[in-house]
Amino acid sequence: MPRTLDDLDADGSALGVRVDINSPLAEGGLADDARLRAHVDTLEELCRRGARVAVLAHQGRPGGGEFTDLSAHAARLDDLLVAPVAYCDATFTAAARAAVADLDPGSAVLLENTRFYAEEYMEFEPAAAAETYLVDRLAPALDAYVNDAFATAHRAQPSIVGFPAALPAYAGRVMERELEVLGNIAESPEPRVYVLGGAKVDDSIDVARSVLERGLADAVLTAGIVGNAFLLADGVSLGAASAGVVNERSHGAVKAAGDLLDDFSHRLYLPRDVAVERDGDRVEVDLGGLPAAEPAMDVGARTLAAYADILEDAGTAILNGPPGVFEDERFEVGTRELYQAATRAETSVGGGGDTAAAMRALGIEGFDHVSTGGGAALRMLSGEPLPGVEALRA
Ligand code: 3PG
Repeated sequence: MPRTLDDLDADGSALGVRVDINSPLAEGGLADDARLRAHVDTLEELCRRGARVAVLAHQGRPGGGEFTDLSAHAARLDDLLVAPVAYCDATFTAAARAAVADLDPGSAVLLENTRFYAEEYMEFEPAAAAETYLVDRLAPALDAYVNDAFATAHRAQPSIVGFPAALPAYAGRVMERELEVLGNIAESPEPRVYVLGGAKVDDSIDVARSVLERGLADAVLTAGIVGNAFLLADGVSLGAASAGVVNERSHGAVKAAGDLLDDFSHRLYLPRDVAVERDGDRVEVDLGGLPAAEPAMDVGARTLAAYADILEDAGTAILNGPPGVFEDERFEVGTRELYQAATRAETSVGGGGDTAAAMRALGIEGFDHVSTGGGAALRMLSGEPLPGVEALRA
C-alpha cells in the first residue's frame, strides 16, 4: 500500500488532490453525482484536518460531447461538503496559483478541467510528466499531492503520474479502499466466482483469462454479450442478430473465447437459455430452440437458477458488467437477480462503470465493495499494474 492520509501532515498544507468526478452530463449540469459523492470523505477529512485543498479533475475527452468546464462540479461539491468549495477557471496559470495561495485552512478550490491542456491527454513516464506545464507550474504552489482518482489510475497522464515525481505523494481514502479490495482479491474468501457480462467483450475475456491462469477464479459465469461470444465459440447457433452484435463489439472475441474454452472449459459456465424480444414481449428460448431471429437481450430463467446456486455458495462474488440490457424493464431481471444472488455470497465486489450504473438504476444494495473505476477496475482485476498506483509507490 502506498503512503495514505494517515501518513500526511495536513494541517496548513497546500495539497493538490486529484479526484475522478468525470460524470454523465444532462442539459445544464450533472446527470449523476455518484463519483463526486465517492470523494466526499477524502476531501472533508483533509479540510477538517486544516489542509488547503486544490482539487484537480478531468471531465470528458477533447472533442467529445461531455468535454466541459468544471463549474457545475464545483457547485455540487460545495453542496456536498461542509467545507466551502470554490471554482477557479484556470488549472496552473498565475490565476490558479493565486487561487491556491489564497485558500484558507479547511477550504477547497476546484481547478479547471485538466484536459483543457493538450499535455494532459498524453501519456508519459513520471519524470517526463513532472516536466509538463501543469506539473512544473503548479507543483511549486503545493506542499504535497494526494491521488484519490482510482478510476483514472490506468492513465499515465501528468496529473496522475507527474505530481508524485515532484511532490510527496499519498493515496486518498477512495484509492486506499480500492487497493485494499481489488488489490487483494487473491486473499479473499474461496471459492471465488466471477460473473462477466456487459458490452466490453474483449476486456471481459482478458479478465477471464487472467483470473483463470492465475488460479484466482474457481468459476467464471458468462452472460450478456460476453456469454454470447462464448456460446458462439462453443458452436451454438445463436442466430445472425446476436452474432452480429458480438462481431460489432469485437472481431476477435469468438476466437479468444474459444481458446479459453479449450484451456479452462471445466471452470467456465455458459448461458443455458436467452431472452429475446418477440412481438413486443420478453420470450425465453432454450439453446435447443435457437437460432433466434432476434438478438439475445438477457439470460433466461434456467441460466439464472444455475448461476444463482453457484453464487450463493461463493466465498467471493466478483461482478463485472451487466448480464442483460437492464435499461429495458423487460430485460432487467437477469441483472437484478444475479446481482442480488451475489450479495448473498460471503463477500461481494462490483467492478466497472456500467456495473455501478446498473446497481444504482435497479436499486441494488448490499455489495461489500463497488469500485469507482471502469477501465481501471478491469485492469486491476486482470492483474496489470496501474501507472497511477505505481507512481504513488515509487
Ligand atoms: C473513466 O471514466 O473511466 C475515467 O474517468 C477515465 O476516463 P478516460 O477513459 O476518458 O481516460
